Amino acid sequence: MKPLIVGNWKMNPDSPGRAVLLAKKVELGIAKIKGANIVIAPPFPFLLPVGKVLKRARLGAQDLFWEAEGAFTGEVSWHQLKHLRVEYVIIGHSERRALGESDEMVNKKIKAALQAGLKPVVCIANAIQLKKALKTIQESRVKTQDSILAFEPLSAIGTGKPYDVGASKRMRNAIKYPFVLYGGSVNSKNAPDYVKKAGFQGFLVGGASLKAGEFVKIVQKICQ
Ligand code: PGA
Repeated sequence: MKPLIVGNWKMNPDSPGRAVLLAKKVELGIAKIKGANIVIAPPFPFLLPVGKVLKRARLGAQDLFWEAEGAFTGEVSWHQLKHLRVEYVIIGHSERRALGESDEMVNKKIKAALQAGLKPVVCIANAIQLKKALKTIQESRVKTQDSILAFEPLSAIGTGKPYDVGASKRMRNAIKYPFVLYGGSVNSKNAPDYVKKAGFQGFLVGGASLKAGEFVKIVQKICQ
């Protein structure tokens, strides 16, 4: 099982030109690294231009809507993402939940992603969110390498305060799924501990994914 590193660019950078430049720099850095799967998740408007320059990395989206098309102002459907060659989709990020996304919506989005053949990266901050996210979804459908969970403790997201490795390990052990990422203030210095000591299969990287050099270093460190 190769580790997976997902770069969540959130609402960055501010222009398509900068997005393409960042993607090109990441590609250059990871071109020769074989031991990991890498996903770049830019904002919706940059999926197309960034997708065009990705070779080694796969394309991810930061959200999806569960209907294929219709009167849903502002939403982007799984169907539209498939046309852009998106393969992974982040679902239930805490920043979306803070804006009102419910457990029920998260659950619907996971079902839509699985149905569409998109690989969901489901963000959860605790065991209750995990249970609600996967409600009525057959275990066998999510216990594969193509369904990814990301443990993202709220105190660690975007704060520069990574979660305690020991506590992360306990959480990792409690999640009985094969592929679980850690997310929350990951950088090239703390990354190896979450894989080697806590037992995660990779990372969901926010802030550090906006600096090509640092993101590439994270990948290099866990491939050593
Ligand atoms: P961070 O974000 O790496 O900036 O803490 C992680 C995330 O939001 O997934």
